[in-house]
Amino acid sequence: MSAFDAVVHLVYLACATCFVIGLHQMNAPATAKRGNRVSAAGMGVAILTTAVVLIHDHSVRAGAAWALIIGGVAGAVAGLIAARRVKMTAMPQLVSLFNAVGGGAAALIALGDRATTTEATVTAVLDVAIGGVTFSGSLIASGKLAGRVPGKPLIVPFGRIITLALAAIATLFAVLFVGFDGPVASLYGIAACALVAGVLFTLPIGGADMPVVISLLNAFTGTAVAMAGFVLESTPLIIAGALVGAAGAILTKLMADAMNRSIGAIIAGGYGTGDAVAVSATSQPVREVTVDDAAIQLAYAGKVVIVPGYGLAAAQAQHEAVALAQALTEQGVRVSYAIHPVAGRMPGHMNVLLAEANAPYDQLKDLEESNPEFSRTDVVLIVGANDVTNPAARRPGNPVSGMPILDVDKARSVIVIKRSLGHGYAGIDNELYTDPRTAMLFSDAKAGLAALLAGLHAYAP
Ligand code: TAP
Repeated sequence: MSAFDAVVHLVYLACATCFVIGLHQMNAPATAKRGNRVSAAGMGVAILTTAVVLIHDHSVRAGAAWALIIGGVAGAVAGLIAARRVKMTAMPQLVSLFNAVGGGAAALIALGDRATTTEATVTAVLDVAIGGVTFSGSLIASGKLAGRVPGKPLIVPFGRIITLALAAIATLFAVLFVGFDGPVASLYGIAACALVAGVLFTLPIGGADMPVVISLLNAFTGTAVAMAGFVLESTPLIIAGALVGAAGAILTKLMADAMNRSIGAIIAGGYGTGDAVAVSATSQPVREVTVDDAAIQLAYAGKVVIVPGYGLAAAQAQHEAVALAQALTEQGVRVSYAIHPVAGRMPGHMNVLLAEANAPYDQLKDLEESNPEFSRTDVVLIVGANDVTNPAARRPGNPVSGMPILDVDKARSVIVIKRSLGHGYAGIDNELYTDPRTAMLFSDAKAGLAALLAGLHAYAP
């Protein structure tokens, strides 16, 4: 090995170390930003090193070098603009688009590599197959989340039979390609089957299951990228892909558990309408509370737990929530936030928003930490959360049955800020709202929290 090669390997090793350390730091909100920067720095150095290797080895012609530079700059600028402009509520569809780009790029690597080399490998086949499914599946998932494709499950007639037939055809192409050193056209055949299969895989899945599908597609992207790493014999690509694949697979399992759905049932499809708000038909009376009464209740409480949900994200009310929590803390009230793993519309949605508003990390409690605390809580303040607090989940026979919920109904009193009795994602009434201990404060989350803060200053003991 030449000195140059040794240095390159060491730099790649350092980059891989950055990926692992960065991923580890993303475990906790306090270190997550740093983790993101460490991983991004590792990836930046890996890209630059690869460019240096290409120049050093004279393995690209001038035209190809320009294509790499223009493509790299255009991709980086587009990614930067999209990530900076995106609203928090539109983050899941952006993540899905990024998955599509990753899977598509990985598939193109194997197709492009086969056009220039004579090697026909299993990894190239897997790269094209997984990358193709990820590309088209992620585009459909993104369209569903953005409302461009209907969110409700679209059952394609004979969809499963067609998928099985596509898998059989792709397998034949794979045998032809690897076993008999078939033409590059067989790889294109696999790509075509994979693209159609990706669409058929995602269309029947309902809106409520989309987060799990996005994590699953994320795991697919990582796997496809790792396969592309084998095709190119690129160690950093294999490591980065394996990390994304493993993290995506773990997240998929966690999300499915938190929504009480098996991954198999999700892939089979057919749950969730995807239409977030429908007006409730509940005939039972609910109790309303005025801003002044709610503020007095909060001001005289010993312990308050804030439960943020999708409505808080939609209203971008995280700063008002944190300002209210801070004012309560200054008045001696013990405050924490109870964060359900699927509150909002994407994994980690609430943690990200509250961290952005500088909520103290020690006040952010997950489901397991929060549930034993509710029986010792004076007031639970629910802000735009619905399904994750619905006691109906404890009974069988409804769309949220078995979903782990925040046991807010164990607290002494509950105040719910939302605009109406409108449904959440699962599309069912929330039994909490007719509980005698619950009072509704009908308002937009941002306006309601701001009014409560003003009221708190007026009624502070
Ligand atoms: P949801 O059950 O969807 O309820 C959100 C509530 O927010 C709605 O009932 C709506 O009621 C209210 N709302 C909307 N805009 C508002 C605003 N501007 N101000 C105040 N309230 C507003 O939310 P959740 O409790 O966070 O539960 C999450 C649900 O989404 C679960 O069913 C979960 O499975 C699903 N889901 C989760 C994810 C992930 S990974 N987090 C991804 C996709 C789906 P009003 O219209 O009456 O205001």
